Amino acid sequence: MYDLIFICKELKSKVSERRYNHCINVGCMAKKLAKIYSVDEKKAYIAGILHDIAKEMSYEDQLKVLEDVSTYPPEFSRRNYRVFHGWVGSVYAKKYLKITDEDVLNAIRYHTTGRKNMSVLEKIIYNADCISIERRFEGIEYFRRAAQLDLNIVIIDKLSKAIKESVRKQRRILINTFEAYNDLIDSQII
Ligand SMILES: [Fe+2]
Ligand SMILES: [Fe+2]
Repeated sequence: MYDLIFICKELKSKVSERRYNHCINVGCMAKKLAKIYSVDEKKAYIAGILHDIAKEMSYEDQLKVLEDVSTYPPEFSRRNYRVFHGWVGSVYAKKYLKITDEDVLNAIRYHTTGRKNMSVLEKIIYNADCISIERRFEGIEYFRRAAQLDLNIVIIDKLSKAIKESVRKQRRILINTFEAYNDLIDSQII
């Protein structure tokens, strides 16, 4: 189904060693969370290792992957192209790595912005990216434990920080981020 050796080789050719190690760590964390939440572990691993495959691409290379850029979000521009490495990565995975599973592709696509109605796999990849083994920040152990009990805690924390940062810098709030945040907050209301 998936040619893991081919996928890892492709990833290695697209990112630095540091990023490659991060991707593998996210894959491992995603697999661990997939087991807890009864999601296909192999799918989670593949989505995890591929989530940042486009992270180090130049804007020009991203455009080449996307081809007709008019069909992509209006925010896609040179100014903030780094936000779109998830989007570009999912297109790359489908086109060049023959990944056809929509849930895997969406998990790659929305790992930076989130979106409303995220699937369990999408939430797993979002979490795994934030709490993978090499990450260091204050409170990370709390978030690692929280992710095993509720996949929304890490996402709400990260999205609220992203929104605050956008407001502080007077930047546009991405619509998917805004909708993901509201969706998760609404789901907490009993
Ligand atoms: Fe990323
Ligand atoms: Fe990442």
